[in-house]
Amino acid sequence: MKIAIPKEIAAGEPRVAAVPDTVKKFKALGAEVLVEAGAGVSSGILDSDYEAAGAAISADPVKDADIVLKVRRPEASELGKYKRGALAIAIMDPYGNDAALKAMADAGVAAFAMELMPRITRAQVMDVLSSQANLAGYRAVIEAAEAFGRAFPMMMTAAGTVPAAKVFVMGVGVAGLQAIATARRLGAIVTATDVRPAVKEQVESLGAKFIAVEDEEFKQAETAGGYAKEMSKDYQAKQAALTAEHIKKQDIVITTALIPGRPAPRLVSAEMVKSMKPGSVLVDLAVERGGNVEGVKAGEVADVGGIKIVGFTNVAGRVAASASGLYAKNLLAFVETLIDKETKAVAVKWDDELVKATALTRDGAVIHPNFQPKGA
Ligand code: NAI
Repeated sequence: MKIAIPKEIAAGEPRVAAVPDTVKKFKALGAEVLVEAGAGVSSGILDSDYEAAGAAISADPVKDADIVLKVRRPEASELGKYKRGALAIAIMDPYGNDAALKAMADAGVAAFAMELMPRITRAQVMDVLSSQANLAGYRAVIEAAEAFGRAFPMMMTAAGTVPAAKVFVMGVGVAGLQAIATARRLGAIVTATDVRPAVKEQVESLGAKFIAVEDEEFKQAETAGGYAKEMSKDYQAKQAALTAEHIKKQDIVITTALIPGRPAPRLVSAEMVKSMKPGSVLVDLAVERGGNVEGVKAGEVADVGGIKIVGFTNVAGRVAASASGLYAKNLLAFVETLIDKETKAVAVKWDDELVKATALTRDGAVIHPNFQPKGA
């Protein structure tokens, strides 16, 4: 059984799908591990580190590989080299990318989307959304601190007092919770909002204040899966009014609001941005899904009358070494379920709920029910 770790080809992707620790574990499972030369450099891992862990460095690792582990979905230029029947496991970004899914089916690979992993206890260790969002939430606060011309903590000095920064976190999932915790550690005064009522207690337990329109709709706003629903126009208007009043008084706004499979909700209008004091900073972690903040530009720091809107993409990748380490562990845990420990060969259990939830393509077809070709 051969496991390949190619170098990521997407621009601005410094992460890698295996680290020396996971290579050792794959070797112990009886696999041969082939790593493309230079694959780990942007995450601080040298070829020699992989070799020391038992991997072979290769110019063309995917040729003959039974399992290819990647961060990003393999592109057409990469798929040509894959063996038919190989498993390709990555963050596949499947929504709205039908042509790319078909390309993987046509190449005969069995593609698995790690971000579709069910959020059940058994799969917690494989939860890439959590492992990466946690780091992105942390990093969002660091980006904000970097762009902000003032200090976060209150400092009482002989030369005067520096007031504590006021930070508002919008969307309190995994990223938002870590943003709250990080901003608190830096000494900020933190408030937060979300449409899911369960969040209130979590926010308060981190020493922040919860701010939301708590009406009947809010009380019903969580799906059985623990995700947010898209809110009614009426609720959104009430939420916007509350937000508008609150945002004026904030120094930093960090937005992380997402709804699975939908564009990100627009939570901060251009007018709300303008109402902030010059020098204020907004960091929009939802930028890759359209953004929560009007005027955010993907990959850029926009300056709107002295107010900065930070729109960095792949924010977890800005903590690349940590992000790769956690992602690699997520992959290892999933791969362990796909191989037979006795025969030391790939043995996918196609009726396992983790496989059913994540498998996108198999035997030349797109098999995931959510991504069936239109008209099929
Ligand atoms: P996400 O990344 O899908 O969304 C981020 C946050 O945005 C969510 O808290 C969502 O409620 C919020 N949001 C959506 N629309 C909004 C709006 N209009 N205004 C304000 N906020 C809005 O969420 P994430 O981080 O993936 O977490 C979703 C849920 O999954 C949470 O309940 C989390 O605790 C749970 N979870 C469960 C795990 C498990 O293994 N059981 C692991 C990780 C998370």
